[in-house]
Amino acid sequence: EKDKGLIRDSWESLGKNKVPHGIVMFTRLFELDPALLTLFSYSTNCGVAPECLSSPQFLEHVTKVMFVIDAAVSHLDDLHSLEDFLLNLGRKHQAVGVKTQSFTMTMRLTVVGESLLYMLQSSLGPAYTTPLRQAWLNMYSIVVSAMTRGWAK
Ligand code: HEM
Repeated sequence: EKDKGLIRDSWESLGKNKVPHGIVMFTRLFELDPALLTLFSYSTNCGVAPECLSSPQFLEHVTKVMFVIDAAVSHLDDLHSLEDFLLNLGRKHQAVGVKTQSFTMTMRLTVVGESLLYMLQSSLGPAYTTPLRQAWLNMYSIVVSAMTRGWAK
């Protein structure tokens, strides 16, 4: 319950327009793993990551990502209601060539998790605390484990 409050408050404190924060997250993601850029069919329309991120198609994906996180935050009390949606989302990402390793956490954070935390840290500043980080990690792992089932077959 305390976790939920931390997540809701911090997400709200990012402001109404989440797209700039999504850009921070994906800038970090492509920095950590530039090869991910090539999974977007429209990446041929631009050259390097910073340039691509300002193209309309990439902004659209970033907007979708922020929308999904927003949905997860709004459904913290019943995340399982997003189960089918997330499974399908996982399946779509498998279809475009994304590997589960980009999402799932084993010993260390993977690129997507790391980029999300990086964005929160840079957007929240001092409000980014250890309990807050842990709360987000918990939600992240629930979302990801649902998505990961979309890779099952
Ligand atoms: C669609 C790649 C992470 C949400 C797509 C598409 C690609 C893609 C290539 C299809 C083209 C498009 O719609 O732009 C990736 C890569 C990721 C990543 C490489 C990181 C490794 C995420 C995350 C979320 C997300 C973290 C949200 C939690 C979506 C949504 C769609 C989408 C909602 C649209 C699916 C549909 O058409 O129904 N992604 N994505 N993506 N992605 Fe991602």
